[in-house]
Amino acid sequence: MPKVTFLPGGKTVKAREGQTLVSLAGAHRIIIPQRCGGHASCLMCKVVIEQGEVSPPSELERRKMQEKDLLDQIRLGCQARVTGKDCVVRIPDNRLKSIVQAALERQRAEEEEEW
Ligand code: FES
Repeated sequence: MPKVTFLPGGKTVKAREGQTLVSLAGAHRIIIPQRCGGHASCLMCKVVIEQGEVSPPSELERRKMQEKDLLDQIRLGCQARVTGKDCVVRIPDNRLKSIVQAALERQRAEEEEEW
């Protein structure tokens, strides 16, 4: 039974071959953001395959994603399916969270300069 590790949390779970990454994550209370119910239209479920392999991109995924992203192992979590092999999947930081963190770091740096 293949195992999938989700980063940044590092939780490793057993998976069924053919299961989508969104479905697998959801079954283990790991959140991959998504809004379209897995129809490859919201593009919010992008993940990075850091190690191992998942199913090759479907025709639908190839139409929705840029070739460069696919070459960089960025996939739609609702389309990429577990194969018989283990893999490590990174769920990117929430964009809003990243923006807030960057703003806080800028503010902190400015405050340090004032001292
Ligand atoms: S869930 Fe919307 S594109 Fe994957």
